[in-house]
Amino acid sequence: MNTQEYIALEEQYGAHNYHPLDVVVHEAKGAWVTDVEGKKYLDCLAAYSAVNQGHCHPGIYEVFTEQAKKVTLTSRAFRNDQLPLLYKKLNEMTGYDMSLPMNSGAEAVETAVKTARRWAYDVKGIEEDKAEIIVASGNFHGRTTTIVGFSDDPASYKGFGPYCKDAFPMHEYGNIEDLKSKLTENTCAVMIEPIQGEGGIVIPPEGYLKAIENLCKERDILFICDEIQAGLGRSGKLFAHYYEEVRPDIVIIGKALSGGFYPVSAILADKEVLGVIHPGEHGSTFGGNPLGAAVAVRALEIIENEKLIERSAELGEYFAEQLRAIDSDRVVNVRARGLWIGLVLDRKARPYCEALMDRGILCKETHENIIRFAPPLVITKDEIDWALERISDVIKTV
Ligand SMILES: Cc1ncc(COP(=O)(O)O)c(C=O)c1O
Repeated sequence: MNTQEYIALEEQYGAHNYHPLDVVVHEAKGAWVTDVEGKKYLDCLAAYSAVNQGHCHPGIYEVFTEQAKKVTLTSRAFRNDQLPLLYKKLNEMTGYDMSLPMNSGAEAVETAVKTARRWAYDVKGIEEDKAEIIVASGNFHGRTTTIVGFSDDPASYKGFGPYCKDAFPMHEYGNIEDLKSKLTENTCAVMIEPIQGEGGIVIPPEGYLKAIENLCKERDILFICDEIQAGLGRSGKLFAHYYEEVRPDIVIIGKALSGGFYPVSAILADKEVLGVIHPGEHGSTFGGNPLGAAVAVRALEIIENEKLIERSAELGEYFAEQLRAIDSDRVVNVRARGLWIGLVLDRKARPYCEALMDRGILCKETHENIIRFAPPLVITKDEIDWALERISDVIKTV
């Protein structure tokens, strides 16, 4: 079958909940994907940062296939010999006492919400059913009905209510005074993305994370950081909140935790917080399964062994600098942390993404006018130079 035939099938039989570029990927390796016609593209999206380790990493493939021969799923009714190793690895890498594994990012966000509420009632003493979690404008935390209920993007929330708005007051992202004005005696947590990815690589003003940490400490409130997209090296540090040297009470991770092989997510916290969850109160059939756990341990090892965080910091700085040097009025701004770059245009970004696709670069617009570049962290400087030549040409001529 050719590209058009695959697209026709998808359009006819699939729900139209995405608006993908018309490239039909057949295989992928490292930073490159190949479509069904045999054309190669440099992937500058990395599955929304889920394949930071590069596509089909041979090291992850090895444990994936080895573990798949042994046991893939026990459910948590029984213990398995891989999950404890993931718990230990996460503890060693992040310093948090404990973790709770789930599958998708949205499920991990739900887990953080439930943990914060349970902490509110059992530890802080907030009246049952009154706990509030303050969120930020422009947030993206996933697609469940609870989560879209506290989004301010109509494409996320409109037509899927009713919601429990009072439970998630919203403050303006980056504005600490506005956050203070939303605090009540029922506030149990503040939940933010340290950099907003889906929002368009929005970096908050310096001091914002530190101010949230201080406020939360003063008022006995949990600080929750959603690092699902920002974390595990994407921003040039293990976690984007390291830029302000804060230590959130709950960190949410996903995406690159499995290097694209298997959905694995988790929340990280210390005992005083995560200890509030008791047997039978939360879980998932697939969460913590041995296949996912084995994959996640190897995915984390690769981030360390291949120095992907350092690569992200160095190459990201270079990539962003070169994008800023493009001589065109169409470029309004380049926002970057590590290999996570938002190129803000003065016009719609979609035609530019389509033109880049024609020239062998895959990237995706976020909001109307921002092109996001987030390649696998294994990308080389030569590959970035190859991309820059084409990006510069497209921005100037399309
Ligand atoms: C910051 C953030 N949180 C949560 C999610 C949801 O993750 P998932 O799509 O795996 O449910 C995303 C996905 O893009 C995200 O960027």
